[in-house]
Amino acid sequence: MTKKLVIGHDKYALEVPARIFQGGMGVGLSLSGLASAVANEGGAGTISAAGIGMYEPDVYENLIEASSRALRKEIVKAHALTDGVVGANIMVPQAEYEADVQVCLEEGVHFIASGGALPMTLAELAGSNRKTKLLPIVSSERAFRLILKRWKRSGRYPDGVIVEGPNAGGHLGFSREELANPDYYCLEKIVVRVREVIEKEGIDIPIIAAGGIYTGADIRDIMSHGASGAQMGTRLVTTKESEAPREFKDAYLNCNQEDIGIIESPLGLLGRAIKNDFLEQAMAGKKHPKKCFECISGCAGVGEEVVTEEVTKLVGGAPFCYTMALVNAKKGKMKHGFAFAGVNAYRAKETGIISVHELFEILKREYEESA
Ligand SMILES: Cc1cc2nc3c(=O)[nH]c(=O)nc-3n(C[C@H](O)[C@H](O)[C@H](O)COP(=O)(O)O)c2cc1C
Repeated sequence: MTKKLVIGHDKYALEVPARIFQGGMGVGLSLSGLASAVANEGGAGTISAAGIGMYEPDVYENLIEASSRALRKEIVKAHALTDGVVGANIMVPQAEYEADVQVCLEEGVHFIASGGALPMTLAELAGSNRKTKLLPIVSSERAFRLILKRWKRSGRYPDGVIVEGPNAGGHLGFSREELANPDYYCLEKIVVRVREVIEKEGIDIPIIAAGGIYTGADIRDIMSHGASGAQMGTRLVTTKESEAPREFKDAYLNCNQEDIGIIESPLGLLGRAIKNDFLEQAMAGKKHPKKCFECISGCAGVGEEVVTEEVTKLVGGAPFCYTMALVNAKKGKMKHGFAFAGVNAYRAKETGIISVHELFEILKREYEESA
């Protein structure tokens, strides 16, 4: 792989020689271990801030402080493990969003990737800091245009944009109607449309494309549509260094294509995951949480006593505590949680669990062979 991906044009410009971003994966699946392993291979590693405070003793009493403390520790650890590019993924609806952004700026992470909703305030929060590059995650050219409009008020453009298509794992920025129209809502075409917005604006920022990119040939293909690099999540879950527990990796290794499907999360968003008994029961409305930690704004996974008709309508009758389900998955308790996964998760069994180094060697070879 010869062509380089560069983020930014100033003295803090970041080079990502492998042109691969590791997607942030909450809860606790991409921390300093995975992020530094990817960075050491010339990729960009991402610490996921979502639910990161789960092992802090005061997380239930002091969510914001505990979470940003845990994030700081992971950033410090990552910086000790690599000189490569390491950033953080912070989801807009997280209660600790602003505190986490502050921690990232103070600790000098190379970039903040932010999605889950439109990161309208990120440029404002970063203020005059130019060292930490800002990468909004969008699923449409419209979302990207809205961000540009708002950020211009702060005198700043994004340093790059992560365009996530409908085949990704995790929450998706698409409605059921949009998912049913793959001719229009496919990653390649969204990349082309975002590229048009960038050109019209007269700016020079790279697109990092995400969602369903699994092989080196996929990377080459999406670059032919105007992306400068790729973000991968699913393929990195089953690396030795990923912080997913063995049970989570097994869910990937043992699943078949038909097990991977769309779920409705309490956040009122669709997501892609490996279907299991927990999700079946949650979708049937049998998993009401006892307590709400108010960790995500707009989440409807509230206690049984407050599951109103309106909430039930919003989440398709499936309120469950989203964070608790993902914390359980992080602990390997798959009976009480589930695994988010992209469309290609069933392919994990082709290689089994391999190191990030082995994976990057495979991706390089596939990329070269697809020329
Ligand atoms: C298990 C899992 C957890 C994820 N968690 C997050 C998250 O917390 N925040 C986020 O912005 N994206 C999240 N994503 C999306 C990834 O960052 C990435 O964009 C996506 O996985 C790319 O698609 P792929 O899985 O097909 O490679 C997650 C994806 C997976 C598979």
